[in-house]
Amino acid sequence: MDKLIIKGGSPLKGEIEISGAKNAALPVIAASLLTSGECIINRVPDLRDIKTMGRLLKNMGAEFHYESNKAIVRTDRIKNLEAPYDLVKEMRASVLVLGPMVARFGRARVSLPGGCAIGARPINLHLMGLEKMGAKIELEAGYVIATAKRLKGSTIYFDISTVTGTENIMMAATLAKGVTVIENAAREPEVVDLANALISIGAKIKGAGGSVIEIEGVDELKPIRHTVIPDRIETGTFMTMAGITGGDIIIKGCMLEHLHAFMTKIEEAGTKIEEADSGVRITGPARPNAVDIETAPYPGFPTDMQAQFMALMTIAQGTSIITETIFENRFMHVAELIRMGADISFKGSTAAVKGIKQLKGANVMATDLRASASLIVAALRAEGMTTIHRLYHLDRGYEKIEEKLNRLGVFVKREKR
Ligand code: EPZ
Repeated sequence: MDKLIIKGGSPLKGEIEISGAKNAALPVIAASLLTSGECIINRVPDLRDIKTMGRLLKNMGAEFHYESNKAIVRTDRIKNLEAPYDLVKEMRASVLVLGPMVARFGRARVSLPGGCAIGARPINLHLMGLEKMGAKIELEAGYVIATAKRLKGSTIYFDISTVTGTENIMMAATLAKGVTVIENAAREPEVVDLANALISIGAKIKGAGGSVIEIEGVDELKPIRHTVIPDRIETGTFMTMAGITGGDIIIKGCMLEHLHAFMTKIEEAGTKIEEADSGVRITGPARPNAVDIETAPYPGFPTDMQAQFMALMTIAQGTSIITETIFENRFMHVAELIRMGADISFKGSTAAVKGIKQLKGANVMATDLRASASLIVAALRAEGMTTIHRLYHLDRGYEKIEEKLNRLGVFVKREKR
């Protein structure tokens, strides 16, 4: 397993370009199952999760090619309507093939994802939605088998605004007979991007980005031609890196309108964000102010930025209260930050971070994707060297991370195992 060695202490300087959003690319690639013909998706980041989605589609009989941030998919010859356990356990987003498969082929056998480091992550709401649309749902040996002659429109209320649940049902509804209304839908930009991709190939979708989405089913969709939005979580992560090192960087190709809640908090913590012609200029303070945060579904403070913001707060002036409301176990990074000298205590889903003057480099372990990003944030400020182990977590969601950090003047080295 690869590890990353980082020398802390230097303020980040320079400019980087933000990659395409992993969590927009994955549903749009899965949507290729809804249509025949060659689908072309641009600005797809070069990540492990994208490769896993490609393997999943190829395993079903699809053609999948990926090079220089472009994915080309053809699903004319799908013969195996299954998402097997060994692929789904690697990436929960594999569940995104469920809705399109049932809608286009009338059947799907998908391994239940099981839990992951940050929580149980059930898909009961995905299944409830498909059932309301007329699918027969059976559970057998850890797999869900969904069958339907043709899905029919229905009104579906999500008691939790699930992101991939909204995406699965929205995709399924594009080919259903009649109108589907999703209430308490997820409002994330990635949901909107998927809706835009589907509308561009003939889907009839209204209200994406709001909490009520209406989809009128059609008989056929054209092949996808789409460029995914930039990654708002990568953007927020680099803003935090500039914030913790007192850096001065330019971020190119990001969309600030996707980050209002996060930006409000990091500006309160003393980081300046200015739009410049060459991109967005981020300047970090000598030492951040302590700021309380509580994660919430979009447009609230993103849970995917909680770990990175906590790392910033470890050296803040004062104490910050951090509350995680989305996942039940998203404090795995706390123990690792404490190994670097942070003063953090937590009970249930609330952590108190008492700012200290200086973190110390150490050997630390990545436990999940965003926890690994928080360890990089901390390592950039820590005195001396930090080695981050189990880098495969990071490689799921950050494209060319050491190249980007190098461009910002950081001493960083990947040791391949
Ligand atoms: C998406 O996961 C993202 N992944 C996650 O990003 C992100 O953290 C999460 O949304 C929240 O924003 C992708 O888009 C591929 P949810 P998802 O369904 O859809 C519960 C990353 O770092 N729930 O919105 O799986 C669930 O347990 C990843 O890139 C049910 O109870 O999240 C959780 O507590 C990590 N039943 C809450 O809802 C269901 O059927 C929100 O989950 C579905 C969800």
